Amino acid sequence: MTQDELKALVGQAATAYVVPGSVVGVGTGSTVNCFIDALATMKDRIAGAISSSEKSSERLRAHGITVLDGNSIERIPVYIDGADEIDHQGHMIKGGGAALTREKIVADMAERFICIADESKLVATLGAFPLPIEVIAMAAAQIERRLRAMGGQPTLRPGVLTDNGCPIIDVRGLRITDPVGLEREINQWPGVVSVGIFARNKASVCLLGTAGGVKTLAFPA
Ligand code: 5RP
Repeated sequence: MTQDELKALVGQAATAYVVPGSVVGVGTGSTVNCFIDALATMKDRIAGAISSSEKSSERLRAHGITVLDGNSIERIPVYIDGADEIDHQGHMIKGGGAALTREKIVADMAERFICIADESKLVATLGAFPLPIEVIAMAAAQIERRLRAMGGQPTLRPGVLTDNGCPIIDVRGLRITDPVGLEREINQWPGVVSVGIFARNKASVCLLGTAGGVKTLAFPA
């Protein structure tokens, strides 16, 4: 199966986790696009969506799915999103599509995070994929210095501003053996909007697209 076919498979499988009558949290990326297309077939059975990016909102609206304002929602049963890497505990690197901050906001509203990914995303240790960090522009050089001091190689993602109008730093060369600790540490640096380690808001379940079909990995809280 091609990678696109695996994405379509898990996008479809994720609809089984949608709670009828509820608001669905929707992530961002090519795998989530497959989920949005599958969600459209059951749009009359949901109360709407809360979206993590302008791109996903556009796609949802194009299917006639109502996109609700984040401030109008307190809790949602599920958030469905992709990942750039996921480890065997459900910790993830996200933000390859520059939507990490809103992704974390919506994930934080959800009872369960359902990660959808093809099998290439499953890793033993996070960090081969460059870690995205959304920052306030005037703090970028200061944050890059701190990242170099911890052994990373940071670069500003060229020509990209997030939906929040902020730049992204991508950090290569980090072997993330303590995702919870590193997320906490980077989060408290002045000027960091969010770091693309999802350890506090880790996956509850990962639907992994494999050559043999969808494999379900469940991660205890
Ligand atoms: C966007 C993300 C995406 O979930 C991540 O980049 C995976 O995307 P794709 O499904 O296209 O591989 O974090 O910010």
